[in-house]
Amino acid sequence: MKEIKLDLGNSSYSVFIGSLGELNFAGKVAVVTNPKVAGLHFKTLLSKIKAPEVYAISVPDGEEYKNLSNVESILEQCFISRLDRKSTIISFGGGVISDMAGFAASIYERGIGYVGVPTTLLAAVDASVGGKTGVNNKFGKNLIGSFYQPSAVYIDTSFLATLDSREIAAGMAEAIKMAVMFDEGFFNELAKKSLSYDEIIAKCVSLKADVVSQDEKEAGLRAVLNYGHTFAHVIECEGGYSTHLHGEAVAIGMVMANTLACELGLLSADEAQKIKNALEAYNLPTSYKIKDTNAFYEAFFHDKKSMDGNIKFILTNGKIGSHIIKGDISKDIVIKVLSKFC
Ligand SMILES: NC(=O)c1ccc[n+]([C@@H]2O[C@H](COP(=O)([O-])OP(=O)(O)OC[C@H]3O[C@@H](n4cnc5c(N)ncnc54)[C@H](O)[C@@H]3O)[C@@H](O)[C@H]2O)c1
Ligand SMILES: [Zn+2]
Repeated sequence: MKEIKLDLGNSSYSVFIGSLGELNFAGKVAVVTNPKVAGLHFKTLLSKIKAPEVYAISVPDGEEYKNLSNVESILEQCFISRLDRKSTIISFGGGVISDMAGFAASIYERGIGYVGVPTTLLAAVDASVGGKTGVNNKFGKNLIGSFYQPSAVYIDTSFLATLDSREIAAGMAEAIKMAVMFDEGFFNELAKKSLSYDEIIAKCVSLKADVVSQDEKEAGLRAVLNYGHTFAHVIECEGGYSTHLHGEAVAIGMVMANTLACELGLLSADEAQKIKNALEAYNLPTSYKIKDTNAFYEAFFHDKKSMDGNIKFILTNGKIGSHIIKGDISKDIVIKVLSKFC
C-alpha cells in the first residue's frame, strides 16, 4: 500500500494506492454511487466497510445528472438515514460521483466526513484528489461547488478492470496533461507505455498533491492543471457533452494548446509531435474540425475561468515538463491557430 500525503494544514490527508483493506468508521456511513458501479463492485466495497450502519445512495449514471437536484436527492437520503456530524459519506464511482458526493458532504449539516474511493482512471489520477467538488447548471460546467477535502482517498486499481477502453484512454489524457506540464521524465515513460496503472496513478497523485498543497484554491499554480481544458470545454459543449468524453476533449485541447505554443515559440514542432504521438499511442483523438473560428473563440468566454474577459492559456514554457500561464495573447493569433483546425 503506497501512501501519498497532501499537506494542507488542518485539512491534510493521505491518498492510499493498493489493495483495499478494512475501512473502519465509528459513525454511520453512506456510500454514494450509481447503478452501474454498484452492480459491478458494491459487494466488494461493502465487505470492507466496518461501521455501525451502512447505507447505499444511488444517483443516475452520467454527466447530465451532475446537478443540484441530484445533490438534493443525496442530502434527502442522508436525512432519511439520520446521518449526523459523526457520519461519513463515501464516494464510490468516477469523477461525476466524487464531485457530487463531495459537494453533498461539504454542505450536509455544514460538513460531515468524506472519503473517496474512485473507480475510474480519470477519478484516480485527477478528480478524487484536491477537494474540488460541485455540479453543473444551465450556465456551464462545475459552476456550483465548494473546496472540500476528503479525510482519505483509497485507490484500488482492481476496480478499474471493468472500465471500457475509451474510459481508460480518457483517464490517460489527464495523466499525459500532468506529465507535459510538470515532468518530462514521466512523459517519456508514458510515451513508452512502460508504467503500470499503480505507477501512473501514484505519479499523478504526487504531482497533484504537490500543486494543491501550494495552491489549494487556485490562485495561480493550480490553474496549470487546466492545460488543454480551455479548448476542451468548447469541444465538449459543441458536442452537447455527448460526442467526446472529457478526457478525449482534453486530448484534442492539448493539441490545440500546443499549436498555439508553437506559434508563440514556446514549443518546437518536434516536441508538439511527440505529445501528439503519445496521445495517439493511447488511442486518444487528436483532430477536430472547427466550423466557425469566431464562435469557437467567443465560447472561451463562457468558461468560468475567463469570466473577467481575460482568457488565460496554459502552455508549455519552451519544452515538455514546463508550464506558463499566458493571459495576453491577441485574438488575431488565437484565431490564426484555430484556423489550422478548420
Ligand atoms: N474535482 C476535480 O478536481 C475534477 C477533476 C477532473 C474531472 N472532474 C470531473 O469528473 C467527471 C468525469 O469523471 P469520469 O471520467 O470518472 O466520469 P464518470 O464519473 O461519468 O465515469 C465514467 C463512466 O464510467 C462508469 N464507471 C465508473 N467506474 C467504473 C468501473 N470501475 N467499471 C466500469 N464502469 C465504471 C461510470 O458509471 C460512467 O458511466 C467530470 O464531471 C469532471 O468535471 C473533476
Ligand atoms: Zn480534466
